[in-house]
Amino acid sequence: MVSCKSVYQPQEDSTLLEKYVRQYAFAKVLDIGTGSGIQAIAAAQSKNVQSVLATDVQKGVIEYCKKCINNKKIKFLQSDLFNNIKGKFDTIIFNPPYLPQELKLEDLTIDGGKKGYEVIERFLNDANNFLKPNGIILIVFSSLTKKEKVENFIGNNLLDFEELEKTHIFFEDIYAYLLKKNDFLKKLEKKGIKDVKYLANGHRGLLFTGICKNKKVAIKTKNPQSKAVNRIENEAKWLKKLNKYNLGPRLLFADNGYFAYKFIEGYFIIDYIKKSNKKYIKKIIKKIFNQLFILDKLKIDKEEMHHPLKHILISKANPYLIDFERAHYTEKTKNVTQFCQFLISGYANKILHNKKINFDKGKIIKLAKIYKSNKNRMNLKRIIDAT
Ligand SMILES: C[S@@+](CC[C@H](N)C(=O)[O-])C[C@H]1O[C@@H](n2cnc3c(N)ncnc32)[C@H](O)[C@@H]1O
Repeated sequence: MVSCKSVYQPQEDSTLLEKYVRQYAFAKVLDIGTGSGIQAIAAAQSKNVQSVLATDVQKGVIEYCKKCINNKKIKFLQSDLFNNIKGKFDTIIFNPPYLPQELKLEDLTIDGGKKGYEVIERFLNDANNFLKPNGIILIVFSSLTKKEKVENFIGNNLLDFEELEKTHIFFEDIYAYLLKKNDFLKKLEKKGIKDVKYLANGHRGLLFTGICKNKKVAIKTKNPQSKAVNRIENEAKWLKKLNKYNLGPRLLFADNGYFAYKFIEGYFIIDYIKKSNKKYIKKIIKKIFNQLFILDKLKIDKEEMHHPLKHILISKANPYLIDFERAHYTEKTKNVTQFCQFLISGYANKILHNKKINFDKGKIIKLAKIYKSNKNRMNLKRIIDAT
């Protein structure tokens, strides 16, 4: 049936997906990695489908399809995933190359990257921008691709999935999944946040970035794996309060279970120290101490200042304390003293030493003790002067 050697001959994965394309595809369809065009043709044959854009990364495949497939509903375009694609679709279909390179297959139609899931990961990271709010994604992948990884990418991109079918062939299982935007993503998109992308996860929160009114924002929501309660609400509450003292990232809005703040383009503290010279490092340390002193005075303990590696960002020569999930009121605040502890710890001390910044550890410990018993500006200044 097919003569071009770069065209993927339909296999079990193709026919499995085709079955669900016939059942679910609707309205405006995008078929990525069309190969022989099997999915595009199946979609075009459905009365629920108005148009199909069929794409492939390989030029030869697109030339072949244009020559061999004549269906008024289908248009062809060469594109590496979404690179040349514009607009939003009701249905996105993808039978991706999903086998790990270590199997040494050297074939673009099946080579999914080093681990096998890289193309799928790239696809899922971009798919939401091309999917309408109530659109669906139909995708197949193999047990050789690592199911948990794929499900992680799906979840991280705020998609819900339904396993439509699992079928066993030779040495692998093939899964057909139907994906939809989850309610949280729809809520964010309704708020005008576009281009929502997973950024990182902590023990308690999941962090996403997005674009709101042409500005980059960060969105934090609860990590479903965390058992901690009310941490997100707690952090939003603290940010609102602390922004009045110019502390923390600028809170934009908070809603049930999530909040958004102005994205801080910067370096984590250690990376900043590594790339900066002595004069700038000293200035930053002083600014951090001043911010921590405000927290001490407000009787708010931020926690984690003795290992603040991921909790202080430096942007345009200003420090931003981030992550106030565990912040709480207490008479016994430890913000300044914990930061002293960090500076004299072996890890930070070695990096600072390389920058020709050397502290008298014994003196800092002594000054921290004095500060602890009397948290005033004079005692803070003595610590700053010693660092
Ligand atoms: C497993 S075949 C699937 C072909 C056909 N859709 C099917 O179901 O039989 C994967 C197809 O994806 C294409 N492909 C690989 N990487 C791609 C990428 N980054 N962007 C678009 N297409 C890609 C390959 O050229 C190949 O035609």
